[in-house]
Amino acid sequence: MISLAKPFFDEKEKEAVGRVLDSGWIMQGKQVADFESNIADYCGARHCIAVTSGTAALHICFMALSFSQGDGIIIPSFAWPAAANIAHLLGAKPIFVDSKISDYNLNVDLLEKIIEQSISDGIRVKAIVPVHQFGAPCDIKEILKIANKYDLIVIEDSACALGTKISGQQVGTFGLAGVFSFHPRKIITTGEGGAIITDSTEFAEKCRALRNHGNLNSAGLNYRMTDIQAAIGLVQLGKLKSILSKRKYIIEIYLEVLDGQDGISFPDYLLNSECSEDAAKAIQTLMVLLDNDIDRDKIIARMAEFKIETNTGSPAAHRLPIFSKTSDTCPVATELNEQGLALPLHAAMTKEEARRAAETLLDLINPKSYEEPHTAEFETCLAE
Ligand SMILES: Cc1ncc(COP(=O)(O)O)c(C=O)c1O
Repeated sequence: MISLAKPFFDEKEKEAVGRVLDSGWIMQGKQVADFESNIADYCGARHCIAVTSGTAALHICFMALSFSQGDGIIIPSFAWPAAANIAHLLGAKPIFVDSKISDYNLNVDLLEKIIEQSISDGIRVKAIVPVHQFGAPCDIKEILKIANKYDLIVIEDSACALGTKISGQQVGTFGLAGVFSFHPRKIITTGEGGAIITDSTEFAEKCRALRNHGNLNSAGLNYRMTDIQAAIGLVQLGKLKSILSKRKYIIEIYLEVLDGQDGISFPDYLLNSECSEDAAKAIQTLMVLLDNDIDRDKIIARMAEFKIETNTGSPAAHRLPIFSKTSDTCPVATELNEQGLALPLHAAMTKEEARRAAETLLDLINPKSYEEPHTAEFETCLAE
């Protein structure tokens, strides 16, 4: 079976876990402190708070900001609905914005109108939580300008985007805070896990307290990462550069076989991909868009018959039963949700597997249109 996603482990993770077990100290301790300082250094952030998941990271951020009943939080519909769920659980209102076909990210052109409308509906709009969807950088600089105009806080949901940079700056460091996920499908994993990064010492202190029972001075949670997880994370972080290169190589194989073929389109940011460190992109999920006349779910089922795991990309949160409205307020998100196809992508994947997945998909969509790919041209991308 060619898996959709797989962690990139070797003996080093096993040895690191073994050392923690032998030490007798397995809860949050030195490994977590080291993991936090390495993540903060890598990202260029002053503080990092490691937690049990990306969802826990968002929960802590929202609680640190006291989001509650009557507050509005602007969130792209086309994303994993962790932020929307937490807003809902806190009694706040997720306000969904549509995405762009070009990069599946929040469409900034729609933002001001939605903010104005929400304010005139009597909602206290407090924050924007843009997502760097599947690792693609969103238009964070434009989002920040609008946030400043309306005095809104920005928390970047960078769950999928460790390693993605804009002009050399790691995403997650533009707003008040950024969150990462270390779920096994993400760029690096700790089994489950997450982190908050921020330059604000005051915000970091609130987050640290909320992670650990409020430090017994205020109400809090137990969202502590264990030293076992952090030991895995430290090894994974050391491999980040090679993980990103390997994923990029696999994407180039898909592009060689599938780009320009009828019925299938790639997001623009993959076609314009650069090799430079300054514009590094950590592509966590490779989602292509199938034409409307192609039955996406049937393709998923047929690919499975060939032992190739594919999936839908992401939910369109505005259509989930807990949030659903009668009218379709985010039509692009709906289309991405209905016609998006996530292809196998992970650092342990071989080029033969990538080619087989791409050719099988092509054959299912456009039988007999397959041409031999020219792999030599893109192998230079791996030079680093
Ligand atoms: C954009 C986004 N935000 C948040 C999360 C939640 O992360 P976790 O699964 O670690 O709770 C995910 C997970 O898929 C995600 O894709």
